[in-house]
Amino acid sequence: MYHMETMRWVGGCLEILDQTLLPGKTEYIRCEHYTTVCEAIRRLSVRGAPAIGAAAAYGLALGAVALRPAGRAEFITAVEQIARDLSATRPTAVNLQWAVDRVLGALRDKKSSNIDILKKTLLTEAHAIYREDLESNRLIGEFGEKLIPQSAAILTHCNAGALATAGIGTALGVIRTAHQAGKSIHVYADETRPLLQGARLTTWELIQDKIPVTLLTDNMAGYLMACGKVDLVIVGADRIAANGDVANKIGTYSVAVLAKEHGLPFYVAAPISTIDLSIAGGQEITIENRDEREVTHFAGQQVAPVGVKVWNPAFDVTPNRLVTAIITDRGVARLPYMETLSVVAGKKHGVC
Ligand code: MRU
Repeated sequence: MYHMETMRWVGGCLEILDQTLLPGKTEYIRCEHYTTVCEAIRRLSVRGAPAIGAAAAYGLALGAVALRPAGRAEFITAVEQIARDLSATRPTAVNLQWAVDRVLGALRDKKSSNIDILKKTLLTEAHAIYREDLESNRLIGEFGEKLIPQSAAILTHCNAGALATAGIGTALGVIRTAHQAGKSIHVYADETRPLLQGARLTTWELIQDKIPVTLLTDNMAGYLMACGKVDLVIVGADRIAANGDVANKIGTYSVAVLAKEHGLPFYVAAPISTIDLSIAGGQEITIENRDEREVTHFAGQQVAPVGVKVWNPAFDVTPNRLVTAIITDRGVARLPYMETLSVVAGKKHGVC
């Protein structure tokens, strides 16, 4: 199966695959300072909820390497400031805050006053987050594959693939596992305006794995369904509230409404780290607003009148009633999500 590392730790630095250059060029950005990691997350050189979580974890470890504190307390205070900078880069994907909190937690739990040992603890935790995401993708693939019929035309939106994670991806992980199991899969990939993650990244990944894929623009999805060309939809997620409301790439909500109208299953694939049980519903999710140039310009060319007002939310929220099932690394949850998500997240006993 295709595998290109979204990031790698080399010689005490983090190297990040610059996804803004794909599919034309494969170049890595060498991050010697944590602020380069912040910038890479902000400009979507690294993107996708699990990948930005892992990048932020490595960013914290990287930032800590440069610190020369007088003692443990001063070290922790400085690392907490780096954590705040990394957390502020993108607000919607909970994996980012989850990863930063997890690395900070490991640091606080380590009672040593030896700064080198504390620095090592941060890096060890970052490596663990990256490794665990790989395994979690595999499990999502296994659970999700069982929901895919022997022959299926699958619509996906944005990129929830290897490029968005450490492994085979979430939504694309399910698709890859089904394909490997010998199922006849055809993927329809929404191009995903304004930044074209579907056109540039999803199709690129699938072509390398020789999984049949057809690209369409976002506004073609309804007609595609009306023509009977889609059997099911599967997407990733940036944050899932306790009630199963799902924040994902802008346009996901429209696809979910269309799937409902056409009687098609709408699946969401995400690791447990994307589930935020601290918020009751999607209305509490902060939606990132991005630069208007992403809408007014196309491939560097201005395509809208100068000065036009622009609305550019990067994500939307799909209400739980439109979500057929949520495929996680610990099993598949279905409505009522208020019950089932806390079971899969291990906060409550039971079977989904
Ligand atoms: O703005 P992006 O490219 O980071 O948005 C990515 C998505 O919306 C993905 O679908 C989501 O993060 C899941 S990735 C496994």
